[in-house]
Amino acid sequence: MFHPDGPSLLELLRQALSSTEHGYDLLAPKFEKTPFCTPASLLEAAHELLPRGQSGLDLCCGTGAGLGLLRELGCQRLVGVDFSRGMLEQARRACPDAELVQGDALDARYESEFDLVTFFGALGHILPEDLPALVDVVDRALRPGGSFVFFVLPRTGIRNLAYLAACFLFDLVMRVRNLLLKPQFIMYYLASSRCWFYQLLRERGFQVQEHSVLDCILVLARKC
Ligand SMILES: C[S@@+](CC[C@H](N)C(=O)[O-])C[C@H]1O[C@@H](n2cnc3c(N)ncnc32)[C@H](O)[C@@H]1O
Repeated sequence: MFHPDGPSLLELLRQALSSTEHGYDLLAPKFEKTPFCTPASLLEAAHELLPRGQSGLDLCCGTGAGLGLLRELGCQRLVGVDFSRGMLEQARRACPDAELVQGDALDARYESEFDLVTFFGALGHILPEDLPALVDVVDRALRPGGSFVFFVLPRTGIRNLAYLAACFLFDLVMRVRNLLLKPQFIMYYLASSRCWFYQLLRERGFQVQEHSVLDCILVLARKC
């Protein structure tokens, strides 16, 4: 649908009718040929703005987009957490030197072990009520002075109205799907507001900075 070697519409439908975890298992072999994968161009542009580190954790690592960036930033210890075994299999090929952990990112328990934590393309998979748990995981995992890095949707405005309308429509379809079908596939573009996320980070003593990078906003939250 998105690319000659990418998933067909039928395959995407099968994915969306599965649980979040199994949906990604199904999508994994073709994931990098979809727009859901964080593109290399965005990662390259973000690289210039990020601090270097010795150790990096990529939450919801998927096929390893963030792991590659963390390696470029000097991290010798690379850890990726994702609940989809299929996605981790692909990540294993791309990043054989990374420690890959299968599990829920909200259950990850690391204590002051990382200089950098990345979290790309997965905010829509975290329900608003689970954001405090995510911030807790990140806060514990980072050393003082470490940075949490993620992207958010572009700012609202006339130019982005069409994009926001598409996100709204997508979320509506997913809410109806999740009312009617179990297990749920949790993916809502507009559910978790950035203001709420930033507030939670600031309450934990993070300094939050936004940077425009290509069509996205890169958020760099530094743990003081
Ligand atoms: C859109 S993909 C993004 C993958 C990669 N980070 C990237 O930017 O290309 C979302 C990933 O988050 C994972 N995921 C979603 N919710 C999760 C959770 N609660 N715990 C662990 N992994 C999760 C999915 O399995 C999937 O691999």
